[in-house]
Amino acid sequence: MSVDTTALNRDRHDLSGREDVWLFGYGSLIFKADFPFLESSPATIVGWARRFWQGSHDHRGTPEAPGRVATLVRAPGAVCTGLGYRVSPDVFDHLDFREKNGYLRFTTEMTLADGRHCDGLVYIATEDNQAYLGPAPESEIALHIARSRGPSGDNAEYLLRLANALRELDIDDKHVFEIERYLRSC
Ligand code: BEZ
Repeated sequence: MSVDTTALNRDRHDLSGREDVWLFGYGSLIFKADFPFLESSPATIVGWARRFWQGSHDHRGTPEAPGRVATLVRAPGAVCTGLGYRVSPDVFDHLDFREKNGYLRFTTEMTLADGRHCDGLVYIATEDNQAYLGPAPESEIALHIARSRGPSGDNAEYLLRLANALRELDIDDKHVFEIERYLRSC
């Protein structure tokens, strides 16, 4: 799949006539909410795990030296906790461009902290996209992140801001915190 997913995402969901849409954020959307939202809440989705397995050509790296950023991978039985945002549909014009480096929108069932269940959208970089890097030990991911930077800044800043935001939300994520531990000792 091509790296620029802007046009693919625009045609994936018919949001016309909708007043609002729930969005599940698990990565940069947790610490960088640069869009208006009507409501936000901690939220969970089942069967997915957060992993630093996606290459970043446009934010935390370059096409020649991609950084590593978060995506979701299938993990039967796992629960991924993030933030749900209720947004106006036009917010997706901005997010489709911001997250165009291999991420496609999928529909997901999510559970909000107050127990409400709703269908929402989530951006996932699947393994068939050209920027996908795939698994590596957390120690290697930390070294990769430590030496990467791109137009949005140091790759380490992304990882550390996400780890801090997860801690503030009381969300445990062994993968992220293990990378953070290695990164702080680099
Ligand atoms: C997120 O935080 O949900 C997110 C991460 C990467 C790309 C798009 C969205």
